[in-house]
Order: sequence, then structure tokens, then C-alpha cells
Amino acid sequence: MEMSPIPKTAPFADEEIDLLNRVVGTATPVQRAWLAGFLAGLDASGATPAVHPAAPARPAEPLTIVFASESGNSEKLAGDIAKSARKNGLKPTVIDMADLDLAALASAKKLVFIAATWGEGDPPARAVRAYNELMGEGAPRLDGVEFGVLALGDTAYAEFCLVGKKIDERLAALGGKRVVDRVDLDLDFAEPAARWIGDAVKVLTPPNAGGRVIEVDFGSKPTAPASTDIIEAEITEHVDLNSSRSDKETIHLALSFENGAPAYEPGDSLDLYAENDPAYVDELLKLAGLAGDEKLRSDFIKSRDVTTLSLRTVETYAEKTGHQYVKALIADGQAREWIAGRQLIDLIANFPITLDAEKLRALTRPLAPRAYSIASSRREVGDEAHLLISAVRYDSHGRARKGVASNYVAERLRKGGRVRVKLKPNKHFALPAPDKDIIMVGPGTGVAPFRAFVQERRATEASGRSWLFFGDRTFTHDFLYQLDWQEALKDGALTRMDVAFSRDTPEKIYVQHKLWDRRAELVEWLDGGATFYVCGDAKAMAKDVRAALVRAFADVKSLTPEAAEQAVVTLEREKRYLQDTY
Ligand SMILES: Cc1cc2nc3c(=O)[nH]c(=O)nc-3n(C[C@H](O)[C@H](O)[C@H](O)COP(=O)(O)OP(=O)(O)OC[C@H]3O[C@@H](n4cnc5c(N)ncnc54)[C@H](O)[C@@H]3O)c2cc1C
Ligand SMILES: Cc1cc2nc3c(=O)[nH]c(=O)nc-3n(C[C@H](O)[C@H](O)[C@H](O)COP(=O)(O)O)c2cc1C
Repeated sequence: MEMSPIPKTAPFADEEIDLLNRVVGTATPVQRAWLAGFLAGLDASGATPAVHPAAPARPAEPLTIVFASESGNSEKLAGDIAKSARKNGLKPTVIDMADLDLAALASAKKLVFIAATWGEGDPPARAVRAYNELMGEGAPRLDGVEFGVLALGDTAYAEFCLVGKKIDERLAALGGKRVVDRVDLDLDFAEPAARWIGDAVKVLTPPNAGGRVIEVDFGSKPTAPASTDIIEAEITEHVDLNSSRSDKETIHLALSFENGAPAYEPGDSLDLYAENDPAYVDELLKLAGLAGDEKLRSDFIKSRDVTTLSLRTVETYAEKTGHQYVKALIADGQAREWIAGRQLIDLIANFPITLDAEKLRALTRPLAPRAYSIASSRREVGDEAHLLISAVRYDSHGRARKGVASNYVAERLRKGGRVRVKLKPNKHFALPAPDKDIIMVGPGTGVAPFRAFVQERRATEASGRSWLFFGDRTFTHDFLYQLDWQEALKDGALTRMDVAFSRDTPEKIYVQHKLWDRRAELVEWLDGGATFYVCGDAKAMAKDVRAALVRAFADVKSLTPEAAEQAVVTLEREKRYLQDTY
């Protein structure tokens, strides 16, 4: 297909457009860049171009794009919007909400917000400060600012897309003019997000902008070569790091890649594509009266989320089957409470009704991959990547439950087997310069990225000190990567280590208690420029650790609680308090 980069609306006669297209359409990127630079140079030197545009080029209209992201999805979409906006003759500026100064919102004319929801309806950790400011009394008026919000979330959570919803409401309450309706997108957001971006950019582009604006982006760098395609890896190690007497099972998985490991950095994760438990799928199909459907069985095992039970699933069930009790559950406002701790299988078991394959499939969504922090450095392990995966198992409503991906790994993958993964880069959880100190807080599987950090620091002979806080249940049965830490302490890759084993003492001791015990040195390291990292449980641990650090500042430096809070906020703003929690 022939390329026609110069649109018909360009300020040239039709024949001139055809001529330009003949030259520019076949030009290589290098030729185009030369041409762009040459023309810009002509203008700058005051030389008059031979052709006067019928309508003069006017400055591109700015578009402010703010994203609130933790695992990078919103950030990626912000980049997509910027690209599309640029093509349409707009001048996009992309801002991480972590760095957002609210004044930038008030001075924006056109604004797009992309916001993910984390925790239990919370903003992404990095965005908390700006989010609170936006919701607070000091937020500026946004009269006349045209805006649109795209919300990312997961229907499995009760507070689906809450942060995006609240931002959307707030922008309107502050006087903003909603010109694009919000969309709330689930984990399979790629297609609907692309559609929304197309629509939003169209609405936000002034008429004829594409034809009258000359916007050359010299700033954009070539895209990173790091492959984020799905690739297959061979499992070269599959070891349970807990002892056989532990009540936990945490698998160290070593993956090797035939054509080289993806270009990961310490702090990145791998998305792992799991399969469902065939025993669960068989039980589900039996309950639904569809036990003989082999095609459905295979789809369900390989590619559908057959465990999540969301409000949306219950509503779809009521709609598709007309089940009276389920309808009543929704009408009475009890559905939300009922689904807590339950799965799709409970819905079918508790409210049986004749189902066909299509109706049952309509209750499922695509099976999403699960992220796992990479626990190795390529500088130490070459073309391998290591993961540390804890098998999620619990009982609820009288049924034994198993997490899909973690049990796929623990129970059905073995050494010599293969698994599909995809690199998930995280440039917001990276090592500082080699001469800087680092403090790492990683209980449980939260320690995984810190094994990568320590390996990297060893391989690069980094001169900065490193201090690890680790915790788990018992010293004897749950000390993950114990030998690695001992070696690292010996060879100097790790300077210090403090451990907290909660079930070894009558009174439970966690990492936050160890931080408090070591508060004087901790504050000294931080005052000396150290970066503080937290990885692992988001529900309790990350909050407790942050609170412990605030108290440490207050105590060591005799600060008021407000001033101590401010000290931690300053660390966050300086990107020296970094979290990767889940
Ligand atoms: C960036 C990132 C990095 C991560 N790194 C790691 C890592 O290094 N190692 C690791 O093991 N995990 C890691 N995780 C978590 C991992 O992605 C999965 O969420 C985890 O393994 C569970 O997945 P699953 O498919 O086994 O469970 P799922 O099938 O997804 O089930 C988990 C769900 O079960 C429910 N549930 C779990 N426990 C209970 C309970 N006690 N009571 C009631 N309901 C419960 C909850 O709804 C929970 O969301 C990371 C997550 C992120 C986002
Ligand atoms: C630990 C955790 C908690 C989450 N909590 C919520 C939630 O309360 N509500 C919701 O809609 N989505 C929730 N999500 C889903 C994320 O919003 C979703 O994965 C989103 O695509 C992430 O976007 P990001 O990569 O830009 O951070 C949660 C995800 C994780 C891993």
C-alpha cells in the first residue's frame, strides 16, 4: 500500500500534495529527518521558502495527559494517547501523577487522565500525594478545562475502577468540562482502550488541526529494543524453598531461554501465562451439566478466567438465566456481600439452572497473566530468569481454594517443562547509581527483586552499601534464599541483614519492628542519600512499614508527626522511597 503522509487538507494545491507525497511517501526515516531538519533550519535562518502556505502553520494545541500507574498499564496507554494526539496535530505532554503539580491541571486546556485502582480501591502508591491534593480543599478550579478519563481496574475487586471514577467526578466538580465519557476497563483492556483513545483524540482535536499544524517531534527516542513479546521458557530448576515441615510452599523457578533471556533489569517482573486446574474445570462443567463438552473444557483450562466471581458475573448470570434467587440477591443489594470469598463455581453450585456452553462462557473473561518479580540479575545468571512463587491456598465457605497461577507453577510445572512468559519492565523500581546505599524491605516473596538487586551489585562491584530486611514465619522452615544471603554477606554484596520471624517468638515480630529497632542507623543511611525499597504485601505490610519509617524520623530527629510525615513525602518525591507491592 502506498503511503500518503501529506493529508489532502495540507495548505498546498492538490498537485503539490501529490508531488510531496511522491517524495515524502517513499522517503526513508533518515531522509525524512533530514528534510524536517533542513526545512526547520531554513525557517530559523530567515531564508524564505519558495512556497508560501495558503494558511500559515499555527502552534499545535497542547494536550495534557496524566497517568496514575503502578504496574505500567496506564503509563503505556498514556504513551499511546500521546502518539495518537501527535499524529492528529496536538502537542501532548505526558505527566506521571507522582510528579504532578496541580497548577499544571489548572493551566491545561485539554486534559486526559488515565488512572488505575490499587489496594482496595486506592490510588497507585506513587500517585497518593497528588491524588490527595486533587481531592483536598486546596485543589485549583478547572473551569473550562476539557477532559476525559480512562479508568483501569479489575472486576474481581469490589471497588472496580474506583480511583478513575473519583477523579472523573472531581474534575467535573472543580469546573472541568467532560468532553469524553469515562470508560471503566477490566484486565482485558487493550481493544476497548484503543477505541476510547481514538474517540477521545478525535473529540479533543480542534477542527482542521491535522491539516494546518506542522508538528515535528525531534525529541522522541527510538523505541527500546527490550522484547515484551510472549516467549516460551524451559524450566531448569523447580525447588520448594520452604522445608517439608512448613505450612507454606514457595517455589524457586529458574527459566532458561533458547534465544536469549528478555532484556530485563533488576526490578522488572515477568508476566506468567498459567492454565487452570483441570480438576476445578471438570467440577465446574459437571455442576453446569456440560461435562462432555471437550472444546469448552480445553478453552476453560487454557484461556478463560473461570474462578473470578465479580458483581458483573452475577449480573450476567441473572440476565442470561433469569434465575429468580440471583435476581433477588441483586435486587436486595446483597450480591456484593455474597460474592466475597466465593468463586464462579459457588454461583453455579448454589443457584443451579440449565446452562449451555455459550451462557457459561459468557460468565468468564480472558485468563489474565500473573506478574512475578524477577529474582535474578542477567549479569550473574546469563540467559536465565529466576522467579519466587508462593502457592496461594486457603479455605472459604467450606471449600479448599487454590490460586490459579501459583498452583499451576507449584503443582503442575516441573523441571524440564515449558512455560510462557512476557517481560514487564518497571523503570520505577530500579537500582540507583552504584555508589549509593540501598535499604531493601522484602518479607516473604517480597524479597525476590532484592535477590536481583544484590546479584547486580555484586556483578557491577557497586561501592554503595546494601541493607536487607527480611521476614517470614519461621527461621528453620521459611528462610527463603538463606544461603544466598549468607554468601552475599560474606562477599560484601550485602552489607547488613535484619530478619523477623513472626512465629518463632510468643509475640509476633515483623519487619516493621526491626526497622524501628534500627531506626537511628536507618535515618543516618537515609540522610546520607540511601534509597528505600519496599516489596511484597500491599494490604498490611507496606502501610505498616511506611508508618514505622515516619515514627522513626519523628523519634530520631525529634520531629512532630507532621514533619516526620513530610520527611517521608520528601523521600517519595525524590524517588528514594520506592514500592512494588501487591
Ligand atoms: C508487580 C507484581 C509482582 C509480583 N511478584 C510476586 C512474586 O515475586 N511472588 C509471588 O508469589 N507473587 C507475586 N505477585 C503476586 C502474583 O502476581 C499473584 O497475584 C499471586 O501469585 C496469586 O496468583 P494466583 O493466580 O495463584 O491466585 P488467584 O487465582 O489470582 O487468586 C488470588 C485471589 O484469591 C483470593 N484470596 C487469596 N488468599 C485469600 C484468602 N486467604 N482468603 C480469601 N481470599 C483469598 C483473593 O481474591 C486473591 O486476589 C506479584 C504481583 C504483582 C502485581
Ligand atoms: C494488588 C492489586 C490490587 C488491585 N486493586 C484493585 C481495585 O481495588 N480495584 C480495581 O478496579 N482494580 C484493582 N487492581 C487491578 C489494577 O487496577 C489493574 O491491574 C490495572 O490494569 C493496573 O494498572 P497499572 O499497571 O497502570 O497500575 C488491583 C491489582 C492488584 C495487583
